[in-house]
Formats: sequence, C-alpha cells, structure tokens
Amino acid sequence: MSATHIVTRTINLVLNGESRSVAADPRLLLIELIRDQLDAKGARVGCLTGDCGACSVLLDGEVRKACLVLAASIDGNDVRTIEGLEHIGALQRAFVSHNAFQCGFCTSGMLVVAADLLARNPSPTRDEICHAISGNLCRCTAYEPIVEAIHSAAHNEGVKP
Ligand code: FES
Ligand code: FES
Repeated sequence: MSATHIVTRTINLVLNGESRSVAADPRLLLIELIRDQLDAKGARVGCLTGDCGACSVLLDGEVRKACLVLAASIDGNDVRTIEGLEHIGALQRAFVSHNAFQCGFCTSGMLVVAADLLARNPSPTRDEICHAISGNLCRCTAYEPIVEAIHSAAHNEGVKP
C-alpha cells in the first residue's frame, strides 16, 4: 500500500488587503483555498458549479465566482471577500430594514455583487440591480426585498463608492 503524495505549491495573494502566502494543493478551487486554508469564511460554498453565486468575491476588482477559479491560477492577485469590503454599512442596514435575507446563505455573495454595482454605478435602476444580481440565487426571499434594499441603499442613504 503506498501513501498518497500530494504536491503542493506556494500560492501568493493579497486577501482583504493582507499579503498571504500559503502552500496548497494547486488543484484546489479558490473558494476552498480562502475558506479552508486562509480562514476567510464569508464567501460560501454552494453549488460549486458556478450557478448560485454564493461564493462571489472580487478578484482584482471584478466579481468572480470563486468556485470557478483554480487556486493554481492565483499569482499575487488581489482577492476581496465580504470581510474585506469597505463602505458597505448602508447596504447592510438596507438589507436588514428590508428583510432582504432569511437563511442568509446567499447574503455575502449578494453584498459583494451589490457593493461592486454601487461602486461602478451609484444610482442604479431596479432593472440594473436585477441584471447585476442575476448570477446570484436566493431561494428564500423571491428577490424583491434584495432589489429594494440595494435600491434604497443607493438612493436613500447614498453609498460611498
Ligand atoms: S458555489 Fe460558486 S457559484 Fe455556487
Ligand atoms: S436568504 Fe436564504 S438563500 Fe437567500
């Protein structure tokens, strides 16, 4: 019987503003790397097939589904999870006041996408909000409270980009 030999490689990244270096199996997905080896648990593991958006992060400033990114492809990139987002207080308050979550499983991914939208477009229409969150599934809320929360945060409270 032979022992399984796992080859690791050093992966460097900037996670939520902090330089990190970790020896990891390069076959890992980015979502597995950040959650299991770097203890950033905010992005969720849902479908692992790119369909639910629960794993949404910002990769070099763009929304990406971290289950579709191989850890081996990361080379000094900037990765931001919900824990590393700044200026999302208005969004968080709006999600609470509009009851925009129930189980909360989708919420971190929704907030990442919403924060990215408002950074690029501080006054989105409801249609633009629907388009932005179209890659993120929520099986609790029927989406309307989420759309209203994002719209309210942008138009009533104002969101610092
Ligand atoms: S876990 Fe990545 S899209 Fe569902
Ligand atoms: S609040 Fe439960 S999946 Fe969205």
